[in-house]
Amino acid sequence: MAATGEPILEVRHLVKHFPLTQGALFRKQVGAIRAVDGVSFELRRGETLGIVGESGCGKSTLAKLLTALERPTSGSVRIRGREIAHARGAELKQVRRNIQMVMQDPYTSLNPRMTVGDIVGEPYEIHPEVVPKGDRRRAVRELLEVVGLNPDHADRYPHQFSGGQRQRVGIARGLALRPEIIICDEPVSALDVSIQAQVVNLLERLQDEFGIAYVFIAHDLSVIRHISDRVGVMYLGKMVELGADAEIYDRPVHPYTQALLSAVPVPDPEGRERRQRIILQGDPPSPASPPSGCRFRTRCWKAREVCAEQEPLLQIRPGTAHASACHFA
Ligand SMILES: Nc1ncnc2c1ncn2[C@@H]1O[C@H](COP(=O)(O)OP(=O)(O)OP(=O)(O)O)[C@@H](O)[C@H]1O
Ligand code: SF4
Ligand SMILES: [Mg+2]
Repeated sequence: MAATGEPILEVRHLVKHFPLTQGALFRKQVGAIRAVDGVSFELRRGETLGIVGESGCGKSTLAKLLTALERPTSGSVRIRGREIAHARGAELKQVRRNIQMVMQDPYTSLNPRMTVGDIVGEPYEIHPEVVPKGDRRRAVRELLEVVGLNPDHADRYPHQFSGGQRQRVGIARGLALRPEIIICDEPVSALDVSIQAQVVNLLERLQDEFGIAYVFIAHDLSVIRHISDRVGVMYLGKMVELGADAEIYDRPVHPYTQALLSAVPVPDPEGRERRQRIILQGDPPSPASPPSGCRFRTRCWKAREVCAEQEPLLQIRPGTAHASACHFA
């Protein structure tokens, strides 16, 4: 779906440092894990922003910050102009209604002791104003139908459903308050490949129908390409490249993005020949002590002296149509 209008989500210089402590009794802070370290982006109505990056780069922490499940160390998250990152009480409740999360693991994210109908209708307990009590049963049936489940199965329990069906339950619950934004943290990673496409197609259909905007987190680049309008690439808590999906996939300029993409199988043989596989040396450094300057420099084959001294900012550089954070993009 084509994104329209003003941004509905604005993220500015978002930072989350987890304290690193020592000692069991006198927990002394000895440092910080810089899980998210200055991330900025915008999201428009009906748009999908895909987020990719290696394990531990801060994707889930970002998702939790966006939905106020974690509070940021600094920075701001605005939904339709209203700050969620520092909101409390009734204000937080109101802003949060508009941004919901679909979690990775459909096996652990649903309460096994609740019926599927109660799980899907649970958000109405917190927001009774959305659907009057007498209409809730009907609303839940409608939600189940919308995600392709049998509404007559509302009184069954999660264990009576398959993984793909459970993820549909999670999506139905995410839709219950009719949010404009849904954050999907690896929503299909735990599912069989054959089921993944069905769930992705469902998310796309819901977007067309209701104009929902997604932040879609995954480490599978082909899933991201399929669903995203724009893509952001994260490395060690920072966004290193951000732009339209065709731009990122066909003309990546950041060495990290180039390496990530080089590892993805290319369907057409011509593309395969043109593209050389880049194998990254070593593991990502610890987010507790990231390298100076450019965080990617310890694994970058293009690194020079300036990369250790100056941090490259995420910006549109001459000759490119999208933003990247590399001195030599
Ligand atoms: N509550 C926490 N306390 C301390 N450190 C944390 C906490 N949550 C996450 N971290 C650390 O922050 C970093 C980012 O973690 P995060 O879960 O956001 O990564 P991710 O990109 O989602 O990884 P994955 O692809 O494995 O899901 C990691 O180093 C992780 O160990
Ligand atoms: S700034 Fe330097 S180290 Fe960082 S990606 Fe660019 S070339 Fe590599
Ligand atoms: Mg994660």
